[in-house]
Amino acid sequence: MRSSLLFMASTALAARPFLNEPDTGIDEQFAGLPNGTLPDLSKLVGLPDFDWAARQKMNESAYTYYRNGAAGEWSYRNNLEVFQRFRLRPRVMVDITKIEESLPTTILGHNFSAPFFIAPCARAGYAHEDGELGLVKGAGQGNILYMTSLYASKTLEEIAAAKVNSSQVLFQQVYLTENMTETQALFAQIEAIGSKAIIMTVDSAADGNRHRAARFGVKSADSSYSLLTWDMYHKLSNMTSLPIIPKGIQTVDDAKLAVENGVKAIYLSNHGGRQLDTTPSSLEVALEIYNEAPEIFQQIEVYADGGVRYGADVLKLLALGVRAVGVGRPFMYSNVYGAEGVKKVVDLLKYEVAIDAANLGVGDLKKIGSKYVDWRSVNGWFS
Ligand SMILES: Cc1cc2nc3c(=O)[nH]c(=O)nc-3n(C[C@H](O)[C@H](O)[C@H](O)COP(=O)(O)O)c2cc1C
Repeated sequence: MRSSLLFMASTALAARPFLNEPDTGIDEQFAGLPNGTLPDLSKLVGLPDFDWAARQKMNESAYTYYRNGAAGEWSYRNNLEVFQRFRLRPRVMVDITKIEESLPTTILGHNFSAPFFIAPCARAGYAHEDGELGLVKGAGQGNILYMTSLYASKTLEEIAAAKVNSSQVLFQQVYLTENMTETQALFAQIEAIGSKAIIMTVDSAADGNRHRAARFGVKSADSSYSLLTWDMYHKLSNMTSLPIIPKGIQTVDDAKLAVENGVKAIYLSNHGGRQLDTTPSSLEVALEIYNEAPEIFQQIEVYADGGVRYGADVLKLLALGVRAVGVGRPFMYSNVYGAEGVKKVVDLLKYEVAIDAANLGVGDLKKIGSKYVDWRSVNGWFS
């Protein structure tokens, strides 16, 4: 009996292997494309395709730096899979004809054309010689927010100079040390280049345990132990006129503490599953906040990232009250095509958000709510 149960469990598991990119025919479409040659950009149809394209072009260690997750990569996989465990509840006979007009939103009072943004990711130069310049330009052309990473391949000044116009808004991510003199100089530099907010990464108290990356000899950009406390947050806030937004909140407890400590926004993230394995996806954290302290979504702005690859993923986060959704790897991969690839991802995701919202029966994206999702999780492995 026991062995037959084990057999059933193992066949159920075997029936649904983890798929980094669910099969939609890309292998067949580009079969025979010589290694190193990119597919024609116009033939890419969705965000997962850019992972395929980047693998084709980037060398193994550079691609691995982008792709890797911590330890057994359970969080990396869960970030991607969690979205399909919650079913949508589409409503019909609804006027959805103006859905596209409702995509624009504000983030900390700045206007953008869509409720998603480019998450801060280090070393854009691994994908393209223009590095972060492609990301700034693509974001500017698509009028979405780009959060630039401190560990960029270009200088902060070079990145700011690539803005498509003077009204393009960038936020600057930072890793901070205990050296307040260095921090003061960094804040002054960020203000001088005109960034509108500081995104302070708080989920990387220590080096990430990255097996896949270690195998290919690539190290994290930030590997030291860091001291960050709410006491320090107050000192830091007094050192700049810019809002400082903690990135990497992973529990409702810390979300509440952040509100008590006067933040304007929080950013839910497990760093794309790259830091501490078996941490929850931001969708699960948003759900925890929704269940235990839903007022937080009204008190401050909440951003979230991790595993977002489709329009419907964005909608599930917005449905809980998240204001804007970050996308990391797909934009980094798209930069193998430079700014054109980045812009293409903006366009594809905008289109998917709009058509998925319409098919969900949401006529106005600002009015999406939790009723559009069945929050009883379906166990994707055994159902
Ligand atoms: C190549 C790469 C570099 C990253 N570098 C940083 C970084 O410098 N600072 C940071 O706060 N997060 C960093 N992240 C995490 C992203 O900001 C974001 O949380 C994550 O990529 C979201 O998951 P996704 O890639 O599945 O969209 C990095 C992620 C990747 C893939």
